[in-house]
Amino acid sequence: MNRQDQKSWVEWITFFQEEVPKHVTETRWEHIQRVAMYAEDLAIQHSYPEPKKAFLAGLCHDITKQKKADIHHELFSSYGLNTDGIPFQALHAYSAPLFIEKNYGLYDKEIASAIQNHTLGNPNPSLLDQILYAADFLGSDYCQRQTELSDWIQKTLENLHFGIFMKAFQTISFLMEKKEVIHPHTFLTYNGALKSLKENR
Ligand SMILES: [Fe+2]
Ligand SMILES: [Fe+2]
Repeated sequence: MNRQDQKSWVEWITFFQEEVPKHVTETRWEHIQRVAMYAEDLAIQHSYPEPKKAFLAGLCHDITKQKKADIHHELFSSYGLNTDGIPFQALHAYSAPLFIEKNYGLYDKEIASAIQNHTLGNPNPSLLDQILYAADFLGSDYCQRQTELSDWIQKTLENLHFGIFMKAFQTISFLMEKKEVIHPHTFLTYNGALKSLKENR
């Protein structure tokens, strides 16, 4: 059962705008605010019925990003979540939905899925999963440095798969460069988005 019923999405947003900055650095908070804004814009553009819920997912997606490993593992063990095979850089995506449920009583299945899948991608993503994945790319520090950013925003507003493809592509390129393991979900996300882009040509 979803437990957000007592508060509206806008009330949760007001709450987390106060709360999230207590858990992250200033730079991370700036990233989070950009992601929330892009998630709402993409939700409106791509007919997701609850744009404020998309904003809220953006607001909460990195709340545990800067927590130490033991915080993640305590949450995984108290919820009985097996995270074998999940790379370290993705642990925060798995722990954030548990953190907001345990500490604030916010549980929404769609928000939890979108947050959990925002780093590795998802072979069978929901619309909100796709929105948050693309928004996390557009709001990234990497994107902020690129002159093509406004073009990428426009293309993602036109076709969500563009932003999804770009994030998977950038993640894979970065990990290959560092000779790091690439999670199969990221390859599946790359292939899925590329296939959709080719079909839409
Ligand atoms: Fe993240
Ligand atoms: Fe992020």
